[in-house]
Amino acid sequence: MNRSPSHIARRAALAVLLGWAGAAHAAPVGDDADWPGDVRRGWAALRAFDCARCHGRDHRGWSAPDLVAAVRDGSRERFMHSVREGEITRGMPGYRSQDAVVAELDAMYAYLRARAEGVIAAGRPPSARTPETGAPR
Ligand code: HEC
Repeated sequence: MNRSPSHIARRAALAVLLGWAGAAHAAPVGDDADWPGDVRRGWAALRAFDCARCHGRDHRGWSAPDLVAAVRDGSRERFMHSVREGEITRGMPGYRSQDAVVAELDAMYAYLRARAEGVIAAGRPPSARTPETGAPR
């Protein structure tokens, strides 16, 4: 009963679907192995705290500087200091009193470093992509 023609046809259709999804996942730089836990957490934190509101799409700069470039060109200490203390007269809030942000500083830095080094691309971690959202962001 299990080997009915319709069962075989369903399996063939499923294989085609899976092949297509696999192709959609192949395009972005970085697979799940390139997204260790801290990198993934940093990605989620930057989204949760909406840093892109000022730092722009994919954090590549808008009304505020490009964070990937800032981490590529500046020191880790400078990043930590910028986020903790801010530069309020120039529009960067200081987050030192926000424990949730401070707790994710290392993770956010790890994520931006991986971007700066080209280990991963902008957008969601591969396992958080569906064929529909496979394109970065
Ligand atoms: C309300 C707008 C705004 C938000 C929200 C914001 N920033 Fe900024 N940020 C700025 C501005 C403007 C600057 C540039 C300050 C200056 O010119 O000194 C800046 C500067 C920085 C810098 C220093 C960049 C450099 O060139 O060294 C870092 C790092 C940074 N922001 C990280 C973050 C992170 C992480 C978040 C989210 C937790 C965030 N920012 C949220 C506006 C913002």
